[in-house]
Amino acid sequence: MGELLKINNVGYTYHSLDGETTALKDISFHVNDGEFLAIVGPSGCGKSTLLSLIAGLISPDTGEILIDGKNLKSSGKNIGYMLQKDHLLEWRSTQKNLTLGLEIQHKLTDSSYVCINEMLSTYGLITFRNSKPSSLSGGMRQRAALIRTLLLEPDILLLDEPFSALDYQTRIEVSDDIWGIIRKEHKTAILITHDISEAMPTKLLFLFST
Ligand SMILES: Nc1ncnc2c1ncn2[C@@H]1O[C@H](COP(=O)(O)OP(=O)(O)OP(=O)(O)O)[C@@H](O)[C@H]1O
Ligand SMILES: [Mg+2]
Repeated sequence: MGELLKINNVGYTYHSLDGETTALKDISFHVNDGEFLAIVGPSGCGKSTLLSLIAGLISPDTGEILIDGKNLKSSGKNIGYMLQKDHLLEWRSTQKNLTLGLEIQHKLTDSSYVCINEMLSTYGLITFRNSKPSSLSGGMRQRAALIRTLLLEPDILLLDEPFSALDYQTRIEVSDDIWGIIRKEHKTAILITHDISEAMPTKLLFLFST
């Protein structure tokens, strides 16, 4: 099990009209290939910021993030990021929301649709594939966002509180599915959660407010 992700002394400060907010200061840790890390910590301590840095949406002010010893772009690794908000686009049907990432990457093929149909059935969304996101329940929306992330076949899966809008029963079902996928495919995954019992991580990171 080699070291896949390395975070070295990373710091990040937001600059806005209201002033500066230091979200992360001098964070270091690593994740091995196939490991499943859960991140816990109080609201506002920088958990979502950390995932956005790993996904490459923002760049650290200090320190470095290495994947397979290289920076994100030259590592050639695919990162799947399920954001805290689902960001489903209301003007596209559920199915068209799922294919968006593949379309952008020019990877949408006939076989993608076979895979999408299978996942829509598995996740109880098949009858909603032509519906707009507004007609889905909160749990359905989260499952759609999860499918959209998984379709890109990420090497590293980043999940930001993926179950927060789910009722207890659905949470158990969906979380069982996700752990099944993570275990079956030996995916490297990082999950932010308020409830460690919903995950069975192989590693835990506690973040504290700066
Ligand atoms: N776009 C932004 N502009 C300015 N400040 C921001 C921005 N996003 C986050 N912050 C600030 O950075 C800090 C860390 O935010 P972040 O969203 O990473 O926290 P979090 O640990 O994910 O919180 P939560 O558990 O509530 O989701 C907070 O103080 C927040 O107010
Ligand atoms: Mg957050």
